[in-house]
Order: sequence, then C-alpha cells, then structure tokens
Amino acid sequence: GDFQMKDISAVILVGGEGTRLRPLTLHTPKALVPVVNKPLLSYIIEWFKYQHIYNLIFSVCYQPDKLKSVFGSGSKYGVHINYIVEKEPLGTGGAIKKAERFFKNTTIVINGDVLFDLDLASMLNYHRSKKSKITIALTPVEDPTAYGLVKIDKSGRIIGFLEKPTWDEVGRQRNINAGVYIIEPSILKYIKPNKICSLERNIFPELLLKKESFYGFVAKSMYWIDLGTHEKYRQAHQDILEGKLTNTKYFKKFYVNNVAIGVGTKLSKKTELYGPVVIGENCKIENKVTLNEFTVIGNRCHIAENVYLERCIIWDDVIIESGARLTGCIIGKNSHIGSHSSISDGVVLGDNNRIQPYSYL
Ligand code: GDD
Ligand code: MG
Repeated sequence: GDFQMKDISAVILVGGEGTRLRPLTLHTPKALVPVVNKPLLSYIIEWFKYQHIYNLIFSVCYQPDKLKSVFGSGSKYGVHINYIVEKEPLGTGGAIKKAERFFKNTTIVINGDVLFDLDLASMLNYHRSKKSKITIALTPVEDPTAYGLVKIDKSGRIIGFLEKPTWDEVGRQRNINAGVYIIEPSILKYIKPNKICSLERNIFPELLLKKESFYGFVAKSMYWIDLGTHEKYRQAHQDILEGKLTNTKYFKKFYVNNVAIGVGTKLSKKTELYGPVVIGENCKIENKVTLNEFTVIGNRCHIAENVYLERCIIWDDVIIESGARLTGCIIGKNSHIGSHSSISDGVVLGDNNRIQPYSYL
C-alpha cells in the first residue's frame, strides 16, 4: 500500500474518571486498573505493537502523574509515548483537537478502556478503498443502549449515529462504535480548539449533516469488550483466562496446566489449584488453600490456611486470613480480610479495606 504502519501515530483517549468502576478507580485511573495483573492500558500498547504502530499519544486528564510514572516514555514497552494533559476534561472531541499537531497524516484514535483483537491492517485497507475521511470500527452487541449505535447502508457508509440510544431508538441494526477510529487530519476542522466537545454527540452528527465520507468497518468475529462496569471487568478476566483475547500471547506462555504462578511466589504442597488460575509475584499461599477457577491474585498477597477462593479478582498486597471464603468478588489493593469471613458474588471492595473476622458480605 501507500502507507507504512510504523509511520502512523495513534491517539489514545484516557482522560475519563472511570466513575462506573468506583471504588476501584478512586486511587487508580481506569487505564491503570489491573486486568489479570497488568494495567489495562498495557494491553492496548501491546496491541499497537502487534500492529507495528509504535508512536503513541496519550490524551490524559485524571491522575496524569500516575500514568506517566507507569508508562514513562514507553521505552520499557518498546514504544514511544507523548502525553497531552488537559487541566479540565475537554470531552473526546476537545481532547482530539488538542492533539491536532500529531495528526500529520492518517491517524488512529482509540478509547483507552476497550479490549479487542481487531486487525488494523484490514481496517486501514477498507478506509483507503472507500476513500473515507473517518472510519469507525463496529461491533455487534445485544444491548446497544450503553454505547454509540451506528447505522450503515449497504456500502458501509454511516447514515446514523446515536450515542446512548433509548430502546425506542434502536432498530434492527445492532452495530455499535467499538471505540477505534481512523481519522484524516482534515476532519479536525470541525472541532473548535479549547472547547468542550464530544466526538460522539457533537461531531459525528455534524459529519452526517455535511455528508462527509464517513464509514463503518464491521470487523469479522472480533473479540471486543468495554471495561466500563464491574460486571464487564469480571467478564474480561474470565475471557482472557479462557484465551478469547487471542493477541494476548503473554499469558499463554506462562500457563502450565492452566495455572500461571509469578516469580517468588511460594505455594504450600497442599494448595489445591483448579485452573484457570493466575497468581502474581512474591505471594505466599499457605496450607490447604483452594484456588478455584477464574481466580486472579495480584502481587505480594498472603493467603492463609484453609482459604477458599473462586472467581475472585484480588489486587496487590492483600492479606486474606485463615478460613475465609470468597467467591465472585473484587478486592482492592492493600486490603485485609479477617479470618472466617465470607464474601459472596458481586461484592466490590476498594483499596485499603479492613474486614473484621467472621464478617458476612
Ligand atoms: N482526554 C480525554 N478527555 N479523554 C476522555 C474524556 C475527556 O474529556 N472523556 C472521555 N475520555 C476517554 C475515556 O477515558 C475513555 O477511554 C474514552 O474516552 C471513552 O469514554 P467513556 O466515558 O468510557 O465512554 P463510553 O464507554 O460511555 O462510550 C464510548 O465508548 C463506547 C465503546 O466503548 C463512546 O465512544 C461510545 O460511542 C462507544 O460505543
Ligand atoms: Mg468506556
């Protein structure tokens, strides 16, 4: 083709507060929320590398210093990262406008809170073949009301865009905006600088009105998830452990019999493991602990005798005292779960919680 992947830049929108993931996002920006023990954004970085895109621009607003201290210049990840920091959130459109100087040519823009394994090369080919000015990756969902509903005609041209539609507004088409865009720099003329503006609510409708060359790319059998809610966050863990996110080769190489154990972690001989299970680094797992399927334990955790865990997501530096029984819950970092506590499905505890022995949640 007439382009090379390595010359393409990508703007990643990571300015949101992650309100629906609270309390998990009170001390951790959504981009750094651990997903199977790695920051959410690191999956997106790895995906870009996989597609041979190394020039990344992070558009940040909420807790930018935490992001900078984890990702820095990107060298640790083999990419180059530039940061654009907003003092106040400008919305998705305003954030893109602020990054305008990086739009030298065709540029990728993505929402920083989705996991997917889209083939970018075919999307780019599609974009070129349609002479599109802006192309959105689409994915079908059952319930489009939490997303941007996109209507296309037979040629793939976008003929309708409705952000967070009500059920009355949902027709037969169920394709939604997957949060991955290919944008030509000329499109940025529609956005005013330094003004709050939503790409989805303000700019897309205007592009339709102005009959811009605006296309939807329906990716074939693509894995896709938006990690916006506790339920989706748990779902993403299960999917990754089941190997549904095919470009996360990372985990596959660590798995032995469906169990991954980080360096420095000590397991008692009497630990019972029923994978898929992932345990981070430098943990201590005591006698007669049972770790049942879809459990992920962070780094430096201490799991005492006779603890039972199933479908749990445990962040770093958590202590779980003897005899506790936890199923289907999320425990924030540095928390302490007292002995013989029982915590059941759907419970989400933020960081630094202290649960008394024999508690029942
Ligand atoms: N820099 C910056 N500034 N980033 C922002 C801002 C802002 O003011 N507002 C939101 N973002 C970032 C968020 O951090 C997130 O990564 C991304 O933009 C999307 O924002 P969300 O708040 O997560 O939007 P949503 O999930 O409700 O809907 C969006 O994503 C859906 C797909 O996941 C829309 O684009 C929908 O149309 C889409 O279907
Ligand atoms: Mg989102």
